[in-house]
Amino acid sequence: MSHPSPELEPGAAEMRRLVQAALDRIVAHVESLPGQPAADVAGAAELARSLAEPMPETGTAFESLLDLLFDRAVPKSFNTAGPGYLAYIPGGGLFHTAVADLIADAVNRYVGVWQAAPALAQLEANVGRWLCEIVGYPAGALGLLTSGGSLANFTALATARRERLPEDFLRGVLYASDQMHHSVQKAALLAGFPGKNVREVGSDGRFRLDIGALRAAIASDRKAGLTPFLIVGNAGTTNTGAVDDLAGLADLAAAEGLWLHVDAAYGGFFLLTERGRRAMRGIERADSVTLDPHKGLFLPYGTGALVVRDGGTLRRAHGLHAQYLPARPPADDFVDFSEVSPELSRSFRGLRVWLPVKMLGIAPFRRALDEKLDLAAWAATELRTIEGLEIVAEPQLSLLAFRLVRPGLDAATLDVLNRRFLDGVNARRRVYLTGTVAHGRFLLRICVLSFRTHADRMAAALEDIRAAAAEVATRSRPRR
Ligand SMILES: Cc1ncc(COP(=O)(O)O)c(C=O)c1O
Repeated sequence: MSHPSPELEPGAAEMRRLVQAALDRIVAHVESLPGQPAADVAGAAELARSLAEPMPETGTAFESLLDLLFDRAVPKSFNTAGPGYLAYIPGGGLFHTAVADLIADAVNRYVGVWQAAPALAQLEANVGRWLCEIVGYPAGALGLLTSGGSLANFTALATARRERLPEDFLRGVLYASDQMHHSVQKAALLAGFPGKNVREVGSDGRFRLDIGALRAAIASDRKAGLTPFLIVGNAGTTNTGAVDDLAGLADLAAAEGLWLHVDAAYGGFFLLTERGRRAMRGIERADSVTLDPHKGLFLPYGTGALVVRDGGTLRRAHGLHAQYLPARPPADDFVDFSEVSPELSRSFRGLRVWLPVKMLGIAPFRRALDEKLDLAAWAATELRTIEGLEIVAEPQLSLLAFRLVRPGLDAATLDVLNRRFLDGVNARRRVYLTGTVAHGRFLLRICVLSFRTHADRMAAALEDIRAAAAEVATRSRPRR
């Protein structure tokens, strides 16, 4: 019988042609990253609208689709993979992972259940083990790759709820600082908690959770008949990079019998460095930790991670079996990912971490992270020399926040001035910074995390900040 859709199975020559044509565009694109604007979204909404279309019945030539992607759609975006991206929490873009994705997708083996690909599941389990080592967890810990930090925080929260609360859990209360990432609030919502069960505890002048206030909040909730069950600490907030006193939180969690989860989505991989370990002292005492390889391990987007000190907790929270699935693994040291996570079918995401770490070793990652700490410290030193500029958050890792101050200006006018300052920096298009509001003030942030950001780009950032500050000063000088 003839094959009705031969185009679904390209032959050897066609496979090579597709990959080669894509590769030519990819290599040119990656090589041009430093010269591309740090962000360019002018006209992007119009472009987006023009691209809406009904499902095509017939195909279009691959070359013209590559043109659409590389010449039109990709350029109209934040240059998240480039060296000038100092916004939000920068992503990465390790090429080795792009290759790993191609292999994983082309091979398309099933790692969701252990029996379907035991050796591949083992490679991913090794990655989980390495992440546990980075945190400093003992044997018995378990690491799980997720699609991102939000899903890791959600999995942690659902696991803590299962471990520390009865099935009827609505009296359960969780605590985090007012600087927590909103994925924690979202996780609580998804896990079935009303918003009022999430306590936002105040933070100090360095934006670190106020442990005294936390202790008081727990006592007051107990008195009201509620059930405190979870503390979420920060190891690098998104707002200002603050690292909570994790050892202090671990003491309190132990004394109160609460689960301690640390959101280290941004800061976690600095544990590979001496300075990072010092800043995050005590993290190994947490019950669970979120790490984000698509941040601090420089991967392209798509991989977060959760590590738990006791792997049994993930098993208890997720361990359901069904008759139609293959048998469980024959030994306890094997990991069946469907039994410790919310997912069943999914990509072989372990390869995206395993391949670069095996090819390169962890040493280059450690050196690159040390470089980020140096660059942030250098930026702080330089910013201090700019007149009328205040560093509001010194770098605790590689993120700092600052603003212009003008004596006599009211808070609202000062915020407007700083927003203009931010626009002035970004208009130069060599770096892209974002702002935030913390403790009621609008701040500019620099977050250095890309493996592609080096001293030359930081020097450019400082030049642009100086120039934009001078421009704002000229424009805001009172007329005589
Ligand atoms: C501190 C922190 N937690 C959680 C997240 C959420 O991670 P993801 O975007 O990978 O879902 C982020 C993202 O920036 C973050 O900075």
